Amino acid sequence: MPEIKNLECSRCQATISAAMPQTLCPKCKGSLYVRYDLQPLHGIAARDAIAREAASCPWAGMWRYRSVLPDVRPVTLGEGWTPMLPSRRHPNAFLKDEGTNPTGSFKARGLALAVTMARHYGLRQLAIPSAGNAAGALAAYAAAAGIAAHIFMPRDVPFANYVEATAYGANVTLVDGLISDCGRIVAERSQTEGWFDISTLKEPFRVEGKKTMGYELVEQLGWEYPDAVFYPTGGGVGLIGMWKAFAELEELGWVKPGKRPRMIAVQSSGCAPVAKAFDEGATASEMWPNAATFASGLRVPKPYGDSIMLEILRESHGRAVAIPDAEILASLQDWAKNEGLFLSPEGAAATAAYGRLRASGFLTASDRVVLFNTGSALKYTDVIAEAMHLERPAGGE
Ligand SMILES: Cc1ncc(COP(=O)(O)O)c(C=O)c1O
Ligand SMILES: [Zn+2]
Repeated sequence: MPEIKNLECSRCQATISAAMPQTLCPKCKGSLYVRYDLQPLHGIAARDAIAREAASCPWAGMWRYRSVLPDVRPVTLGEGWTPMLPSRRHPNAFLKDEGTNPTGSFKARGLALAVTMARHYGLRQLAIPSAGNAAGALAAYAAAAGIAAHIFMPRDVPFANYVEATAYGANVTLVDGLISDCGRIVAERSQTEGWFDISTLKEPFRVEGKKTMGYELVEQLGWEYPDAVFYPTGGGVGLIGMWKAFAELEELGWVKPGKRPRMIAVQSSGCAPVAKAFDEGATASEMWPNAATFASGLRVPKPYGDSIMLEILRESHGRAVAIPDAEILASLQDWAKNEGLFLSPEGAAATAAYGRLRASGFLTASDRVVLFNTGSALKYTDVIAEAMHLERPAGGE
């Protein structure tokens, strides 16, 4: 594992030491990236050691990439190395099933690393605003590390998110509002209570954990880039993390030379600040009014990392797509019935977006694509049942 060389601001490129816990760039409030000296790992010998070492430690999960993660003892529950499933109907579409992670979502990756670093720094109290799944993941890793978790999420999150966070022993507050309201409360209370705020993109290690999705999808495709990656986008941590991974893979010489994938940010029409900004050619998003969608993870009305995401979408020749909830639900049922895959609403937004971009000609059947199912549908049974107008049938005799 490498030592962290420094943290680097994504906006003004200022460098900051990682010896102490950091949040945002002290100069400009930009998000911080973790930087290492990757030179000693250059070349495919170091790359191929990953698979060799992982073969003797199959439970390593995302820590198979420990050579490009901070040199710290992990807090792990078995996150990462999730299945890459070929679609039964679309020969070049692969579903990356993040629903198999601990706590049933990809949030496990970022929070495993953020809590690992929190323990390393000796932090005792972590606080998070969450659309739901990040709360469950923080609660689990904090429990594993013996650290207190203070969680603020909308009152109407899927019930599973409330149940799991409570079972893990976190201090849970349900807020009458959205994640943006929760974020304000966390920022204020962290000041007065001395909590460490691990909000999306306001500390460097959640992106760093989620970058493993980028390494993983490339390795699972034989160290080759796909043509496009569909990512259900709320705060955008995974999108930003994967793009960082691609830059590192190129610096390391670990990926076969080729064009980086087109990055497709998928949102719900009920909350689509990034898609709107993309369509308008803007460099930042505007607060989305009255955000509402049953894909609760996508209900982020003003993501902090909007400018970074918009830059990535344009640089990759990708785009942002907004899908109405009815179309998300139709795709969810379609993939359940025809592929045997019960996707989260966020994952079904990605499969619906794939259908759209195939129909529009933006992508063809021969384009190799990775569709992210970011969570397990089993965390959403109440929400999906409501969308399907399903009720438990009354008992017989
Ligand atoms: C299942 C699911 N998918 C996607 C997202 C959006 O993730 P990100 O904030 O990394 O864009 C979330 C966030 O809560 C989520 O829970
Ligand atoms: Zn800065």
